[in-house]
Amino acid sequence: MSAQLIDGKAVAAAVHERVRTAVAARTAAGRRAPALATVLVGADPASEIYVRNKRLTCEKVGVRSVPMHFAADIGETELLAAVDALNADEDIDGILVQLPLPAHIDAIRVTERIRADKDVDGFHPYNIGRLAQRLPVLRPCTPYGVIELLKSAGETFKGKRAVVVGASNHVGRPMMLELMLAGATATCCHRFTADVAGEVARADIVVAAVGKPRMVQGDWIKPGATVIDIGINRLPDGKLCGDVDFDAARERAAFITPVPGGVGPMTVAMLMQNTLTACVAREGAAAEATRNR
Ligand code: GUN
Repeated sequence: MSAQLIDGKAVAAAVHERVRTAVAARTAAGRRAPALATVLVGADPASEIYVRNKRLTCEKVGVRSVPMHFAADIGETELLAAVDALNADEDIDGILVQLPLPAHIDAIRVTERIRADKDVDGFHPYNIGRLAQRLPVLRPCTPYGVIELLKSAGETFKGKRAVVVGASNHVGRPMMLELMLAGATATCCHRFTADVAGEVARADIVVAAVGKPRMVQGDWIKPGATVIDIGINRLPDGKLCGDVDFDAARERAAFITPVPGGVGPMTVAMLMQNTLTACVAREGAAAEATRNR
């Protein structure tokens, strides 16, 4: 068997179109376009590429992009003041501080300073807590995008075993919450898991988010499983590869995401969706506040 590819670019394009249509309807009705502030600190080449991509996608879907760029030696107090100003700005719906931040800045303090209703990354403890309580508001973009990809492949989740390989705060853990919300029976593998291969072999849905090139081996995959590879690793020859041994896994899986062109485009697409969601929710809250005045 050779698995069917799940085309992240195509699914992301459908999300872009959904957001673009909704934004166009807003502006046609005289309402403002959603606005996303992207905060970049320093000159990390990978971060610069990611942020540029986010800004370009904003343009494509009609979201107003508000780029902010600070030198690597900005003080934490100054960065927190910039976040405070964006929090207070009624014309800003979403705030994204690109990670990683320089070592002298406490990334957790900065992430938690962003107002929860403008936290379009979905990293704030409020948003993670809402997801854990099955009442999601702004959902972490990559796990949210994985759910969209799985749905595009016809996944039904209920009664299925899912395994997440990797337990990071921003990806692995919220991925577990998303899979449980969708109705799957989810297991998380982490550095203390005794038998990762055995856990993967039982799973109908495998999500790899560990950051180790080709760690998930092809012969671990249950025949007919769906395999989602979140990893993007650069090999010594400069090529990109995922956390899954793609060629071997493809021979056993029914569906599989490529790297690149699988999960990657979905993270930015769901960021656009979250920015629209934040804009609509804030507008609704403002209208309610006016009614109750
Ligand atoms: N760095 C790498 N990916 C991300 C992301 O999705 N959001 C933020 N804020 N920083 C990142």
